[in-house]
Amino acid sequence: MCGIVAYTGKQSAREVLIDGLKRLEYRGYDSSGIAILNSPPYWVRTVGKVAELEQRVWKDAPSGVVGIAHTRWATHGKPSENNAHPHIDCTGKIFLAHNGIIENHLLLRKQLSASGHTFRSETDTEVLVHLIESLYKGDLEAAVRKALLRVQGTFGLAVLHAAHPGQIIVARRGSPIVLGIGEDESFAASDASALARHTNQVVYLEDNEVARLEPGRFSITTLENRAVSRDATTLEVGPEAMERGSYPHFMLKEIFEQPEAVENALRGRVNHSEGVARLGGLESVQDRLQEARHLIIVSCGTSYYAGLFARYAFETLTDLAVETELASEFRYRKLNLRQNTVVLAISQSGETADTLAALREAKRKGALVLGLVNVVGSTIARETHAGVYSHAGIEVGVASTKSFVTQITILTLMALLMGRTRDISYEEGATILRGLERLPDQIREILKQSDAIRELARKYCNYSHFLYIGRKYQYPIALEGALKLKEIAYIHAEGYAAGEMKHGPIALIDPAFPTLAIVPEDGSYEKITSNIQEIRARDGRIIAVTTSGNTKLGTLVDDVIEVPHNHELLMPILTVVPLQLFAYHCAVLRGCDVDKPRNLAKSVTVE
Ligand code: F6R
Repeated sequence: MCGIVAYTGKQSAREVLIDGLKRLEYRGYDSSGIAILNSPPYWVRTVGKVAELEQRVWKDAPSGVVGIAHTRWATHGKPSENNAHPHIDCTGKIFLAHNGIIENHLLLRKQLSASGHTFRSETDTEVLVHLIESLYKGDLEAAVRKALLRVQGTFGLAVLHAAHPGQIIVARRGSPIVLGIGEDESFAASDASALARHTNQVVYLEDNEVARLEPGRFSITTLENRAVSRDATTLEVGPEAMERGSYPHFMLKEIFEQPEAVENALRGRVNHSEGVARLGGLESVQDRLQEARHLIIVSCGTSYYAGLFARYAFETLTDLAVETELASEFRYRKLNLRQNTVVLAISQSGETADTLAALREAKRKGALVLGLVNVVGSTIARETHAGVYSHAGIEVGVASTKSFVTQITILTLMALLMGRTRDISYEEGATILRGLERLPDQIREILKQSDAIRELARKYCNYSHFLYIGRKYQYPIALEGALKLKEIAYIHAEGYAAGEMKHGPIALIDPAFPTLAIVPEDGSYEKITSNIQEIRARDGRIIAVTTSGNTKLGTLVDDVIEVPHNHELLMPILTVVPLQLFAYHCAVLRGCDVDKPRNLAKSVTVE
């Protein structure tokens, strides 16, 4: 949730670090800070967005060539200058930026305070810098290693010492760190997007590893000081993936990238001649998939709604018993995990702490654990037995859009793959594949309505409450549409299974509580039309998302958004797009910070 960037080389560190922080800001953004080695070292922290720090740095930072910087999303201690990173030791020589949580910080703080260390912040992180100070005997790397052996919890961190100019020590356990190696310069960051502008040669640290960076060089050891040999790999994303281009917001850019994202998600994965999906990442576990009887899907937020969609998709296409569970609740359930149980973790970032904890629990109990992840090389991708990448490309906007659309596209492919080895016919498989391939152009058609949806948003954006309803495949889309409106436009919105409406929420309906009904002409069309009538009878205003050419809704609804026809299982991949646009336009019209909604972070690495 927080971001780290570190640099040692020949360029002015402040430029590299501020640019890196801006690229990481989407991960968390309530305060930030920077330390540059100079004589004396330069150290500044500010509350608010990176722009605040940038102003300070341009005003008074020296042009040193070594430094670390951090953008924070508060967990322990409110956003304040004192709580922002980097933290500093008592001698004023050691600087440390940290992502993750130090679980035994209270005990360590007590011990360090008793031996005379002075704490300046309320954070768990600060114990680390004092612990390193207490163990430092002239070798920074050794002190960091020793300190980390005494720490319980997770960390991705970067440390500087004024007595070791040119050297940066980084380490990781449970919170990513990637090294970037250039000519006579080295970088480290919590996310490769901060490095892509400078180098495409990267090295991913594994858990419990420590790296020493010097200009153009690196060495890696384990916490126990065993040397690790690892070559750099070439980064696949270019720096342009992090640019907004002519779009006013990353979220809009990412909504408009969805046709290509779906094309990428499908590329090489469609086997027309067999009417089946081809997912190379699952080949190694083909036999266990064949024996599977029970599927449990774990995920959070938007990825959880993708999981809810998958429950319907797998139940439609396979004979598996399917459950979808919030990753944060998974550990509280006494699920009967057997040899023939498959657990599927879905995550855009691949770093979500709850999802990671759920998959570790499932592994412990012997289940086959699969991943559907967007970020290549992320922790979830590495810890699952096998999996599939969603290939949505970097998603910077905090609200998930293209990653959701690619997730539900690939979940359909996964269900089809398993269904075709069970009881789905070639013809049924081939029909779904043809439908999938029509999606990119159909999404392009929907995107052409963006201006019309903005006008609709103008009409509705001042309402304080919304109800979103859908049935069957569209129920998860109602939940997702409502989440988008809540998180970026700060409008209270409830997603409901349409059939549940009369069991409570209908009491809320009045002219000031509009409903967004997702009603493509599918198998549940008649039933949801009855629900719309019930709302109408109570003077509720209704926007309907329906299939093109449906004139039957008539005066039953106030406004209509049309989407093209496709197989009913695939309609969610279309109906969600206008809901994303509606939330986006409402947010812009209400003056909200669309790409960085308040209190949220892109990657939620705390439980
Ligand atoms: C909402 C959103 C979040 C994430 C959730 C899980 O737009 O983005 O609800 O879906 O935090 O994140 P991942 O998918 O990275 O595990």
